[in-house]
Amino acid sequence: MWLASLLIAVWILLPTYIPNNVAVLVGGGRPLDGGRVVGGRRLLGDGKTIRGSVGGALAGGTLAVGLNLLRPVVEPLVGIVLPSFPLPVVMALPVGAIGGDIAGSFLKRRAAYARGAAVPLLDQLDFLVGAAVLTLVVAPGWVLATVSPTVAAIAVVLTPLLHRFANIIAYTLGLKQEPH
Ligand code: CTP
Ligand code: MG
Repeated sequence: MWLASLLIAVWILLPTYIPNNVAVLVGGGRPLDGGRVVGGRRLLGDGKTIRGSVGGALAGGTLAVGLNLLRPVVEPLVGIVLPSFPLPVVMALPVGAIGGDIAGSFLKRRAAYARGAAVPLLDQLDFLVGAAVLTLVVAPGWVLATVSPTVAAIAVVLTPLLHRFANIIAYTLGLKQEPH
């Protein structure tokens, strides 16, 4: 029961985690906010770029489609029924994740945190909240049928751990300037 919920949580979280990690890899170039300043501070900052946002969202959507194709192969191996991602969910998970991260940067700038400054919990959960909210808006029935309270609880506990782990790897490989 716990293992099944864990596997389902990881399955759903993959297209949610990948966008921001791919954004780190492909990001750079023109910032999303075009350099705009509001109240003496950048609207979002140089850490949110067009290339990173579009590339990250596309990668997450592609992964969700790939998981749909892989599902019939993986299910017999793990012995549980895994969720499939209908098209609105294929788009909402990664776009919501990128959007949540952008909203997090917006809040960080308003609170006068410099680009790259660590804000524990906000940094690790902004993309999860973004993905959850957008998916709830576009596919509420899918969320209710797929995300049990146990799956949701596992996702909230697992996300900061995995996020921290991925960022330390990216930092160690020199892909990221700060390990958060
Ligand atoms: N990135 C990007 N576009 C995004 C998200 C991330 O280009 N939408 C890239 C940027 O190169 C960014 C890096 O990924 O510097 C790390 O992302 P993140 O930690 O979210 O940004 P920070 O640079 O820490 O900026 P902030 O303080 O605004 O979170
Ligand atoms: Mg950061």
